[in-house]
Amino acid sequence: MNRIEFRTFLEEFKSFSVEAFEHITYAMIKPDAVCLKDDILEDIEARGFKILFQLEYQFTDGLARNFYSEHKEKPFFERLIRQMTDGPVVVLILQNEGSIPCFKAWREALGNTNPANAAEGTLRNVYTNKLFGGPEMYAQEKATNCFHGADCVAAVIRESNLVLYDIAMSE
Ligand code: CMP
Repeated sequence: MNRIEFRTFLEEFKSFSVEAFEHITYAMIKPDAVCLKDDILEDIEARGFKILFQLEYQFTDGLARNFYSEHKEKPFFERLIRQMTDGPVVVLILQNEGSIPCFKAWREALGNTNPANAAEGTLRNVYTNKLFGGPEMYAQEKATNCFHGADCVAAVIRESNLVLYDIAMSE
């Protein structure tokens, strides 16, 4: 995506109504899964999500800390920041016109946060197996759970604004 395409998308994004965010979610492919980006993007579309925006983007330490600020007191916070800044993520804005909110449909497609508990065929199950040979690497804190998904409409709005404006400022 070049600068003009980004600016065009940003203008479109600014015009989204609050209702439109019901059908949109903020998602990411985490750094250690980016090597399978092409397969993953194809898979996401096959699961019924339209990719409105995608960009490989390097999170700075500051952006990662802001993005995950709700977890700042959690024991896994520093590891999460290290993992999310270890290489570029793929920033995704997805759309799904189904009967349930898009953030929910995406989190169902992802499966449980812990890949060991993610149902067979969910994205975390499939790509944890492909990339790391199973859930042990996540359990040992050596791998991520491959994907992020906003957990409510307010988070979709916050996270997509935070990251898109960080990208805009970095240009
Ligand atoms: P994500 O959807 O990106 O949002 C918060 C992240 O914290 C989560 O995925 C995991 O990558 C990470 N995390 C690590 N350990 C835990 C845990 N015990 N509970 C919840 N999230 C965790």
